[in-house]
Amino acid sequence: MKHVVSVEDLDKKYINGILKRAKQLTPIAKGNKKSKSLDGKILATCFFEPSTRTRLSFETAMQRLGGTCIGFADPSMTSHLKGETLSDAVKMVSAYSDAVVIRHPREGSAKLASEASDVPIINGGDGAGQHPTQTLLDLFTIKEEMGKLDGLNIGMVGDLRYGRTVHSLSQALDRFKTKLFFISPDILSMPSHITDELTGKWSSHEKLDEILGKLDVLYVTRIQKERFPDIEDYKKVAGAYRIDLELLKNAKSKMRILHPLPRVEEIAPEVDESKHAAYFRQAFNGVPVRMALLEDIIGGK
Ligand code: NCD
Repeated sequence: MKHVVSVEDLDKKYINGILKRAKQLTPIAKGNKKSKSLDGKILATCFFEPSTRTRLSFETAMQRLGGTCIGFADPSMTSHLKGETLSDAVKMVSAYSDAVVIRHPREGSAKLASEASDVPIINGGDGAGQHPTQTLLDLFTIKEEMGKLDGLNIGMVGDLRYGRTVHSLSQALDRFKTKLFFISPDILSMPSHITDELTGKWSSHEKLDEILGKLDVLYVTRIQKERFPDIEDYKKVAGAYRIDLELLKNAKSKMRILHPLPRVEEIAPEVDESKHAAYFRQAFNGVPVRMALLEDIIGGK
């Protein structure tokens, strides 16, 4: 039984296999070809935190492969409100399904769920912890857009402290000989438990304009307002970075901008039409990548 709780569960060979399979599955993800590879299988999606893309792309992925979904997007409609523990809830849901995707505000919740579950647990985001399936689609997108993963200069800007997508992504990119540039206000810098484990080159910066011209990929993140213990601290850093066409004049012509979305103000809408914008293609890529993962985990392929 394979749980996907952290990027540590995914080695380079496994990641490359998923990316390759995701490419093959793209016509099915688009609805241009049909598949029944997960016929009769049931995926449970348990979302204790808001989600648009992660939940819906998992459900689309499952249904494009002939499977079905159960679950909830609003825990206030479940026994969570009566005081049921996460372990009990997961134990039950795992009896009704072949795999469970869970998103929860508490770091470590997916690991806890994996200990209670009788079926594979997929971490759809645990607080400021990890978001490993977002990382798979981010890697797929970088490979599609740039033609490779190895040797790229990759910048990550915004909330590197509370943003779980950049935690998982840094760990994964470290296996691909990339150079990482972490750009954030001092109070939102990449946690040392992530940087201490990096084996490749990385550096920290506060000013984006000083290094933008070196980057092949700029991964932009939202300041995670809901995770600040003190809202006054949030107010100090809200709007710290804004990517607009003026700033992008200094970018390499092939530089691509990724963002896990939702964006708030960190990318001006005018950027959407520029050659740099890859974030909407990135959001679609969640479907073929999650199809590849689900086939592997519950299809026995
Ligand atoms: C991200 C998340 O939930 O961590 N969104 C996503 O899954 N695509 C990013 C965010 O909320 O800022």
